[in-house]
Amino acid sequence: MGKCVGWSLSCWVLFFIVGVAVVGAAAKVKGTAEEQCDLYTGSWVLDESYPLYQPATCPFIEREFRCIPNGRPDLIYTHYRWQPLACDLLRFNGRDFLERMRGKSIMFVGDSLSRNQWQSLTCLLHSAVPNSNYTQARVGDVSIFTFTEYKVKVMLDRSVYLVDVVKEDIGRVLKLDSIQGSKLWNGIDMLIFNTWHWWNRRGPTQPWDYIQVGDKVMKDMDRMKAFEIALTTWAAWVDANVDPAKVRVFFQGISPSHYNGTLWNEPSAKSCIRETTPVTGSTYPGGLPPAVEVLKRVLSTIKKPVTLLDITTLSLLRKDGHPSIYGLIGAKGMDCSHWCLSGVPDAWNEILYNNIG
Ligand SMILES: *[C@@H]1O[C@H](CO)[C@@H](O)[C@H](O)[C@H]1NC(C)=O
Ligand SMILES: *[C@@H]1O[C@H](CO)[C@@H](O)[C@H](O)[C@H]1NC(C)=O
Repeated sequence: MGKCVGWSLSCWVLFFIVGVAVVGAAAKVKGTAEEQCDLYTGSWVLDESYPLYQPATCPFIEREFRCIPNGRPDLIYTHYRWQPLACDLLRFNGRDFLERMRGKSIMFVGDSLSRNQWQSLTCLLHSAVPNSNYTQARVGDVSIFTFTEYKVKVMLDRSVYLVDVVKEDIGRVLKLDSIQGSKLWNGIDMLIFNTWHWWNRRGPTQPWDYIQVGDKVMKDMDRMKAFEIALTTWAAWVDANVDPAKVRVFFQGISPSHYNGTLWNEPSAKSCIRETTPVTGSTYPGGLPPAVEVLKRVLSTIKKPVTLLDITTLSLLRKDGHPSIYGLIGAKGMDCSHWCLSGVPDAWNEILYNNIG
């Protein structure tokens, strides 16, 4: 390139090269999870230092999620770590989590996907402090896992619709405007909500006979519309009841299922069985479930701070993460909705941990 003397061409060339190098290096500097970093665009990378706990060190995992003891033969799926494109996640640190939450209560509210994430969090924390005492209790619909030395309560309120189902003379009524179940959420320090999977239930497993909006009682209605009205009722509860100085509110996001291989470019697959690796890259061929858009629309109307754990895309990539026949129902059934533990919900909790700084 020659010597740089005065404003000669070689000086400009050198200037340019140094400039490109500096800008390039700056772009490569990765921060830890900051507000401005998009934690949800990224890919799954193999990392032998994962999983964050061995299922065997978590004696209370329910059979439904305990895939390896249930006979799942492949293990590679447990070694993936979620890697955002723009920054690095802090590795989950259970001791630090417990210290920061000392004396506080955390409650997951929602369906069995909430139970999945709740179990993951209790496992992550217990495996970090295996000699620390804990108690387990159940009061009505609420399961309470207490780390006694830290006085940290990790709770689960089973509430599949967030809004109420009430027994009346005509039968069971799903009341989209009524949220009396929220009584259980008062005084909790951190709330993590979720609802979606039950909105499309029909037939014998649908737990209501009528659906009510305002004074109108109907046999049925558009389910996506019903979901939106219920979320709006929940959003109004947040705005009216949450004191952001005292309470952190999260929404767990829509957890996807894998029953149609066309959506991940494997048309012969009718379920998630024998899937052993994630979809590579950052995009899911099948796109997002429509519920995500509805959820984001309602969340955008809330005035109080609510953090969406936007886990849909990263979970869509994990066609390999479900129990399939190694879950509750065994060889007769096929579960491509819930997630094995250890597994994908650990990443959701790692993202939760990165959001409580
Ligand atoms: C844990 O519980 C046992 C039995 O109740 C008790 O003896 C022990 O002191 C507890 N450990 C701590 C560190 O509190
Ligand atoms: C699977 O997805 C494709 C693409 O959206 C759709 O055309 C097809 O009907 C779906 N199959 C089933 C069984 O739902």
